Amino acid sequence: MSLIFINLRATVFRLFEWVRVVVLYYRNLSFLLGDILLASQYLWRNPHQVSKAFMKSRGERNLYTYGETPLTTLDRIARKCGILSKDVVYEVGCGSGRTLFWLRHFVRCRAVGVDYQPTFIRRANRVKQWRHLDQVDFLLEDMLQTDYRKATVLYLYGTCLEDAMIEKLVGRFQDLKSGTKVVTVSYPLTDYSSDFSLAKQFSASFPWGKAELFLNIKI
Ligand SMILES: C[S@@+](CC[C@H](N)C(=O)[O-])C[C@H]1O[C@@H](n2cnc3c(N)ncnc32)[C@H](O)[C@@H]1O
Repeated sequence: MSLIFINLRATVFRLFEWVRVVVLYYRNLSFLLGDILLASQYLWRNPHQVSKAFMKSRGERNLYTYGETPLTTLDRIARKCGILSKDVVYEVGCGSGRTLFWLRHFVRCRAVGVDYQPTFIRRANRVKQWRHLDQVDFLLEDMLQTDYRKATVLYLYGTCLEDAMIEKLVGRFQDLKSGTKVVTVSYPLTDYSSDFSLAKQFSASFPWGKAELFLNIKI
C-alpha cells in the first residue's frame, strides 16, 4: 500500500515539476535546446535504466541508487546557499548532468560534473559540444580521485552512499579551501568529520518526499 502511495506521489510530483520547469526555465532558449538534446539521448533507456545496467555490470548489490535533483529544488538550493556567478560548483556524482546545465544557464557560474558512469559523461559532453557551451565541464572520474581544490561549492546528492564511502569522501575533501561550501542531502558532514561546520539546514522536495539539506562549510 505504502509503495503504491510513494509511486503515486512521485508521478504527481514529476508532472508538477515538468510544468514548473516549462513555465520557469524554458523561456531560456539555450537551456531549452540543451535540455531537449539531453532528453533525446535517453528516449530508449532513461538515466535510471542506464545506471541500473552500469551497477549490474560492476556486480553491485544495490542496483537502484540513481535519482535526480529536481530543477526547482536545485533553484531553492542555489538561493538558500547563496550560490553566485563567481562560484565554481563541482557536482560530486553528477548523473546525466542536467543540473550542471541548469547552473550554467541560470546561476551563470562555472559548473563541473564528476561521475564514474561513462554513458552519462559521454552524453553530457555531447550536449556541451552540440550547444558550444563554455563554463560547463564533465569529468569521467571516481569521485574519490577528483581534485576539488578549484571548487568554491560542492553539491553531493549521495543519499544511498554507505558510511564507509562518505568517510572516504570526507577524507578526500581535506584538501578543500577553507570556506568552501559543501551542500549535502540527508546527512551533514559534521557527523563524519570535525573539518566542517554546519551553517544551515533546510528541507527541500524530491520525488520520493521531503529531504533535509545541509550547508557545510570547510573550516
Ligand atoms: C543519486 S545520483 C545524483 C545525480 C545528480 N547529482 C543529481 O542530483 O541529479 C548519484 C550519482 O553519483 C554517481 N556516483 C556514485 N558513486 C560514484 C563514484 N564513486 N564516483 C563517481 N560518481 C559516483 C552515480 O553514478 C550517480 O550518477
